Amino acid sequence: MISDGPRQPVTPRVFVTRQIPEAGLVPLRERFSVDVWPGPLPPSHETLRESVAGCAGILSLLTDRIDVEIMDAAGAGLRVVSNFAVGVDNVDVAEATRRKIPVGNTPGVLTEATADLAWSLLMAAARRLIEGDRYVRSGQWHTWEPQLLLGAEVHGATLGVVGYGRIGQAVARRARGFDMRVLYTRLGPDTREEWATRVSFEQLLDECDFVSIHTPFTEETRHLFNAEAFRRMKPGAILINTARGPVVETAALVDALRSGHLGAAALDVTDPEPLPADHPLLRLDRCIVSPHLGSATHATRNRMAQMAAANLIAGLAGERLPHCANPEVYR
Ligand code: GLV
Repeated sequence: MISDGPRQPVTPRVFVTRQIPEAGLVPLRERFSVDVWPGPLPPSHETLRESVAGCAGILSLLTDRIDVEIMDAAGAGLRVVSNFAVGVDNVDVAEATRRKIPVGNTPGVLTEATADLAWSLLMAAARRLIEGDRYVRSGQWHTWEPQLLLGAEVHGATLGVVGYGRIGQAVARRARGFDMRVLYTRLGPDTREEWATRVSFEQLLDECDFVSIHTPFTEETRHLFNAEAFRRMKPGAILINTARGPVVETAALVDALRSGHLGAAALDVTDPEPLPADHPLLRLDRCIVSPHLGSATHATRNRMAQMAAANLIAGLAGERLPHCANPEVYR
């Protein structure tokens, strides 16, 4: 009888659902058998199901729905899901927890970049920069005009931050430099900042000239900004959303902008996402839309890739993830 000899340890298989910065792929390739989805668009749910079969780890993006079907398709050997994002609303975290699978995310490293983007959108919407650029490019700029593209003052205005976590607080810090009054809502304990006041959601809507959304997307925050909320906002107020599209009810936002009640909206996230080119929001001059760029700087995306890799490596080593969205799996 021929002996098989000593058993070689099997290299764990990992599926990465899109090309991410090499800073994250290199450490994974050194340890695992790694497949990276090569397409520019996310894999379909069916392709994802096929691709994760037999994988011990999945490195997913916010564009991938990691649900019970995907976990079933990966099979009993799935030991970690590492999401290349701080938000994990694309992952069925409750199901992962039930299966004792830790879900990693990338908090902290994208805070300042996302706050910068929120601030850029706020400034651009207030001072009508995108409209100004379109005006110049379309050959309409013939002279300096006393009443051309007048906007809202940022300095000294009142900013409402909905969701006062890391990113919300970073936006509030920027507002300090503009001598703004800052009101905020949050679910957790008070942060007791001197320059920001915790208020009810209703008071925030009543009093703010700018409202910036930084809450995670959950069943509780779905359509938090609906027709009633928009009615409550000050006439001419400006809405900024760099969190998740479905926190805003899109049809109600279109109505609030069309009626002129809202001064403007600046959205880095939308519902649906991506927004089709013929969507009503894109016909409104006072609406700015960017393609979900909150964390899109070279340095931040590299750090996110390293962090997502570190979570995945820890998960496959049976160690606690450095950043885990469902720490209850360790109880
Ligand atoms: C981006 O939206 C993220 O959640 O990281």
